[in-house]
Amino acid sequence: MLKIIYHGHSFAELHINEHIILIDPFIIGNTLCDIKLADAKCNYIILTHGHADHFGSTPEIAKSNNATVIATAELANYLESKGVKTHAMNLGGAYQFPFGKVKLTIAHHSSSTPDGTYAGDPAGILIHTPEKTIFHAGDTALFYDMKLIGETNKIDYAFLPIGDNFTMGVDDAVKAAEFLNADSVIPIHYNTFEVIKADVHDFKRKIESIGRKCYLMKARRSLVCRLFIEFIEFIEFIEFVEFVEFL
Ligand code: NI
Ligand code: MN
Repeated sequence: MLKIIYHGHSFAELHINEHIILIDPFIIGNTLCDIKLADAKCNYIILTHGHADHFGSTPEIAKSNNATVIATAELANYLESKGVKTHAMNLGGAYQFPFGKVKLTIAHHSSSTPDGTYAGDPAGILIHTPEKTIFHAGDTALFYDMKLIGETNKIDYAFLPIGDNFTMGVDDAVKAAEFLNADSVIPIHYNTFEVIKADVHDFKRKIESIGRKCYLMKARRSLVCRLFIEFIEFIEFIEFVEFVEFL
């Protein structure tokens, strides 16, 4: 089973069978975040880059959960020096973790830790779970190699920044969805701050006009994908995607 929960900004929580993975756990200062630091539970954290609105409370959450942080080598080394358990990777490399295969892709952006330490290159994240392929673009400009990522991976869910100013805006993110050939898109990195306000309904309309699905995720609402096997005349896989409200 795959469950996707969104906590505002670029902070996504994935439940992949028994594993919980947090991507860019930005809690303190995240005006859209619905959870407290003590509520963050996980086995793994994956970081796209070192900026404060992505790095967030990574050291605290990783230590209290005894979780492993997956990040580019420089960022992983920095966290390791703070006593955090890490798994260093770099762009273009993939590794099989217990929850799925993770590959870091390029992202056109910059990266340093909140204290100004060089944090290597920023990254996008591809996660191949047993059922689905998820892409989290991190912070990035639109780039043509997204086409290559889309050609070599069948992306089911793409998290794309739409807030403009620091990353792609609405129209570039629509083009990105097209390049990535993503089945469904989840907009991120918008409305957290004044400078990244975006018209998410305009984005949804434009994504749907190119024949793709757009899920506007909200706090306290998760996206659950279940695969059921139905026995009719032959074995058929039927997919149910549903929003589930939870307390
Ligand atoms: Ni950034
Ligand atoms: Mn950012």
